[in-house]
Amino acid sequence: MQVNQFKSSESTTVTATATTKSAFFDASKLPWADWVMPGTWFKLLNVNPITGGFTMLLKVEASNEAPVHGHLGAVEGIILEGGFSYDEDHGYTGNYVYEGAGIRHEPNTHAGGLVMFAVVHGPLCGYNGDGSVAGIVDARKMYDMAVAAGAADHIEKPAHWE
Ligand SMILES: [Fe+2]
Repeated sequence: MQVNQFKSSESTTVTATATTKSAFFDASKLPWADWVMPGTWFKLLNVNPITGGFTMLLKVEASNEAPVHGHLGAVEGIILEGGFSYDEDHGYTGNYVYEGAGIRHEPNTHAGGLVMFAVVHGPLCGYNGDGSVAGIVDARKMYDMAVAAGAADHIEKPAHWE
């Protein structure tokens, strides 16, 4: 085993990839756009045309009680500001959060509100009172909402969405 194989590029013929687009994006330049639940806003950072998932910043008003929703794919996130809870399970600023695929829940945002970075691995599902599906939030819907908010110029639209 070569223990120093990643230490320096001097001894290899592999060179770093030339890029034409910056790997970095200043999300503070995007406006917060209204999201699908009352008292919530989003900034769309990326879409995943394979899974229907997306990457976003989510902002929630103080003391918001979200309606029951489901996750067709898992969600991973980091709480950047504030916190929220699922009943007696509490998350705070700096915490990593994992919501598994297939879960249904009803999170409550703390008194300080919430800002969270989230990688959503598949669509979200909202329900009517009788348990029927009220709506699906997937990558394409997120992209369309970001376009409508004038906040999608940084995202490459997948060719099969034409
Ligand atoms: Fe959720």
